[in-house]
Amino acid sequence: MLTRQIITTSDGSQTLYVPGLNEHYHSVHGAIQESEHVYISAALSKIDKAEITVFEMGFGTGLDALLAYRYAFQHKKKIHYIGIEKYPLSENEFLLLNYEDSLDLPESNILFRMHSSPSEEDVEISDFFLLKKIHADITDFDFTFPVDVCFYDAFAPDIQPDLWSIEIFSKIYQAMNPGGILSTYSAKGLVRRSLLEVGFSVEKLPGPPHKHHILRAVKRVL
Ligand SMILES: C[S@@+](CC[C@H](N)C(=O)[O-])C[C@H]1O[C@@H](n2cnc3c(N)ncnc32)[C@H](O)[C@@H]1O
Repeated sequence: MLTRQIITTSDGSQTLYVPGLNEHYHSVHGAIQESEHVYISAALSKIDKAEITVFEMGFGTGLDALLAYRYAFQHKKKIHYIGIEKYPLSENEFLLLNYEDSLDLPESNILFRMHSSPSEEDVEISDFFLLKKIHADITDFDFTFPVDVCFYDAFAPDIQPDLWSIEIFSKIYQAMNPGGILSTYSAKGLVRRSLLEVGFSVEKLPGPPHKHHILRAVKRVL
């Protein structure tokens, strides 16, 4: 159980703050802006397939899933979205999130449908978006499905170093289809070296406002 507070970030979108870790779920300089930049623009939009499997480390507020849903609608893709989360939000928390006020979405109450759907099963959120939430700890998790894109959105390496291990990245690499992409907001040297060690080619890309760099790791097509 994590104690969390809702705060508003600079682009007007909300995020959660965890006082016990002194950590936010997204950038305080703009939650939507950061997620769109790191996960949709740098990773999802680079996959040239009609049907895409996304794995998210840290489902959290559901913002990354909501942006992937919007991307699927806008670009006529079908997305199978699998998000792992050890500490799911309570209804009291997710009902307060304001993301749908500013995102132009084709259907309403999508975030509610995502959060209230059962875990461990595929749920059709829309005819182009299938969601499976996994209520588990990433450190114990074994992949049984191929992944095209991984949104690696754990708390920072200084806060939870065990979530940035070679073991976890290696499992993701093995599960990934050739040409698959992992993106993450952390550009720490340790993260970059671990991704390189398991076999990814890694690029540093410009970050969203107030962040120098992010990382994009690609599983080469041999
Ligand atoms: C930076 S936040 C993710 C934000 C999320 N992607 C979003 O859009 O709201 C990190 C997330 O990882 C989750 N988490 C922490 N430890 C975990 C673990 N061992 N396994 C799975 N999830 C974990 C946290 O509960 C939190 O939701």
